[in-house]
Amino acid sequence: MIQRVAIFISGGGSNMVSLVQDMLSGGHPATPVLVLANDADAGGLKKAADMGVATAVVDHRPFKGDRPAFEAALQLELDKVQPDILCLAGFMRVLTEGFVAPWEGRMLNIHPSLLPKYKGLQTHARALEAGETEHGCSVHLVTPALDDGPILGQARVPVLADDTPDTLAARVLEQEHRLYPAALRRFAAGDRTRFDL
Ligand code: GAR
Repeated sequence: MIQRVAIFISGGGSNMVSLVQDMLSGGHPATPVLVLANDADAGGLKKAADMGVATAVVDHRPFKGDRPAFEAALQLELDKVQPDILCLAGFMRVLTEGFVAPWEGRMLNIHPSLLPKYKGLQTHARALEAGETEHGCSVHLVTPALDDGPILGQARVPVLADDTPDTLAARVLEQEHRLYPAALRRFAAGDRTRFDL
């Protein structure tokens, strides 16, 4: 059965685009049913609509101080489209256990580091600061602990002598656009074995 996929974004949505393009390219075990952003200005919303994917916005700001209410509103949008798989793709809100637990085993995230290194933010600057010679990105299953769930796949890039956080981020993002579609394809087909690109 074709797996129904919802994607959460917060910004430009380049990873979302790579996922949707791959799903729409044919012969894919999944289909995109919703792109949801927590900000009506997220650039990815128009890109999703242009690709013919339904969009929704749940602005987190009116829910300030009440994360469970924000998450209930997110879940309400998901209930309307009944996804099998939820992909976080640059979704920059922390989700609590109340939201994550019912999705565990069905929610994926992409993170711009070779997990378990550099959980959280500023991953590229921190990798440079630490003198890493190699950096990359990971797709993992989401568990309640931040950036901590089982790793499905990783892609690596060399760190170059003259790298800045921005040049390194750009090199990693290119790999993200290869890694996430590959990981979703495998996952939607029922393959949970870890891989390296
Ligand atoms: C990506 O680099 C993604 O790995 C990162 O945000 C960027 C979103 O770009 N995610 C995180 O840092 C999650 N903690 P995009 O909107 O163009 O896909």
